[in-house]
Amino acid sequence: MIKKCLFPAAGYGTRFLPATKAMPKEMLPILTKPLIQYGVEEALSAGIDTMAIVTGRGKRAIEDHFDISYELEHQIKDTSKEPYLNEIRDLIDKCTFSYTRQIEMKGLGHAILSGETLIGNNPFAVILADDLCDNIDGESVLSQMIKVYQKYQCSIVAIEEIDKSNSDKYGIIVGNEIEDGLYIIKDMIEKPKPKDAPSNLAIIGRYILTPDIFGIIKQTKAGRGGEIQITDALLTQAKKGIVLAYKFKGKRFDCGSVDGFVKATNYFYKRER
Ligand code: UTP
Repeated sequence: MIKKCLFPAAGYGTRFLPATKAMPKEMLPILTKPLIQYGVEEALSAGIDTMAIVTGRGKRAIEDHFDISYELEHQIKDTSKEPYLNEIRDLIDKCTFSYTRQIEMKGLGHAILSGETLIGNNPFAVILADDLCDNIDGESVLSQMIKVYQKYQCSIVAIEEIDKSNSDKYGIIVGNEIEDGLYIIKDMIEKPKPKDAPSNLAIIGRYILTPDIFGIIKQTKAGRGGEIQITDALLTQAKKGIVLAYKFKGKRFDCGSVDGFVKATNYFYKRER
């Protein structure tokens, strides 16, 4: 079973400067909740209650968010404002949180490797909180992926069809479809130019990984942008065995970009008000 979810949250978030100069990107709010809280809620909805968060310098606000603020609790106790804290209190009660720091930001693959001490030798989920997902039929993206994992017991990446002109923002896969929307990965390329993109199937920020990935990342050399790419490690894993790509049902917003962030804000505003 998948018991832990890793949140790589050490990136600089340069696309959101100056907002992210002193505040983690993962704490940017969509309506009243920070991005990372949506991610933790998604993990919990998939039956995972152990959250492992990879942070970096300037990210302490994430730890404070998933903790009690005694002064605030005391101030608003028995007032009309107390219910505003209900959701986060409930999450803190139901989950455990552990943290480690990525000392140098050497890429997503390296951030995942930094989480090894928190994860141990078990399969685990990964959520990139800046990819905000909403489920349409009541089943979160991670829940859908865990069902696939239960059947195939291998690493799985979530994919979505993109406009090929955006291929240079994603890892792009090539695969053989074995079930409706489920592919065995044959090849993958990190951020290819549109003319070099082998398909329009793009990896988004949800993964289930088997723990042998850690050993593979250790052997993976820096790739595109001089960073250790999880895509490169997954390709090695796919060549040794099987890695699946799953076309999820639901909606995803790239909240790491200003455009996606605004779209998500409007979407959730319309949905909740
Ligand atoms: P991004 O590619 O969105 O990078 O990382 P970023 O630094 O967060 O944002 P920009 O591009 O500068 O605006 C994807 C995910 O991987 C994590 C990020 O925190 C984000 O969740 N990440 C990336 C790390 O944890 N460490 C890294 O070294 C790189």
